[in-house]
Amino acid sequence: MVILGIETSCDETAAAVLRNGKEVLADLVSSQVDLHKKYGGVVPELACRRHIEVIGPLVQEALEKSGYTLSQLEAIAVTVGPGLIGALLVGVSFGKSLSYALKIPLLPVHHLEGHIAAAFIEHPNIVFPSVALVVSGGHTNLYYMSQKGQYRLLGKTIDDAAGEALDKGARMLGLGYPGGPVIDRLAEKGNPDKIPFPRPYRFSGNYDFSFSGLKTALMQVVSQNDRDLRQDSSGYPDVAAGYQTAIVECLVEKTLLAVEKEGAKGILLVGGVAANTLLRRKIREEGKRLGVETYIPSSRYCTDNGAMIAMAGVLHYKQGHFAPLHVNPDPNLELL
Ligand code: KG4
Ligand code: ZN
Repeated sequence: MVILGIETSCDETAAAVLRNGKEVLADLVSSQVDLHKKYGGVVPELACRRHIEVIGPLVQEALEKSGYTLSQLEAIAVTVGPGLIGALLVGVSFGKSLSYALKIPLLPVHHLEGHIAAAFIEHPNIVFPSVALVVSGGHTNLYYMSQKGQYRLLGKTIDDAAGEALDKGARMLGLGYPGGPVIDRLAEKGNPDKIPFPRPYRFSGNYDFSFSGLKTALMQVVSQNDRDLRQDSSGYPDVAAGYQTAIVECLVEKTLLAVEKEGAKGILLVGGVAANTLLRRKIREEGKRLGVETYIPSSRYCTDNGAMIAMAGVLHYKQGHFAPLHVNPDPNLELL
């Protein structure tokens, strides 16, 4: 079975070709980072226009790379939400047109279901029950999975997503966009204990997260040390390390709490922030310590990509869950 996966929910146009639910034959991502960089974040209207320009040639290139032709495709998987409505519309309209013209099913994929499916690309035999920590620029959700395709939301952020906190933190420090990778690199050279940051919501007694207070703490650090920091940027790595460690520890603690209380045998760590060096290391170490399996995709499958959407589409295909041609994208789609 050959599935085309399309992703346009935010600032990445992505297309991939997946064979037999396991072989990624092509996986192309066209990033819009350069377009949004000067604004310090994603500008929805610009994102949407760029998706329109890029999607056609990108799908064509992915097909060429895969060695398959349009007429050999058996299904189209596309992200139908959540995300930016204008951006989602481009992928969904493109997917609908192809599905109609080729007379093949359209598989509606939830973006977070896509991120979770990314773990299955390199780990086909995940043990259940597992918990899945989905950490991206827009989401920080912790799910209990009794089996593949079954998601029970345990907790989520009550304010900013972890990636958002990293991006906004980097912006405060004047480090550019997206901030997650910059903070990741900078923190490697810093001392995480030099500047203390709080661990918000640590003892909340549930699985929720909160990161907006950390931004305030960072703002205070920046304003108190502004002169020193500006005169001597050697202080940045310590700030980045302290800030990143606070975020990572909150994520890891709640995940481990869930593993323990829910009796999980595995941990899936997915989404853009799962590319973070410290978070990956901590989850691996803690998994080993507790004797539970850890499943973390390679970095390229953590950030938005088409392969994860095609992978999630496989399950829809098997279940005969096809989208009607009048399907519309939903910017606030819930994962059920
Ligand atoms: O999943 P994703 O590509 O898009 C969304 O669905 O939001 O995630 C993007 C987020 C951004 O906030 C970005 O800063 C963060 O993932 N990110 C990282 C790293 N690479 C990307 N955060 C921390 N460390 C990284 N290495
Ligand atoms: Zn994403």
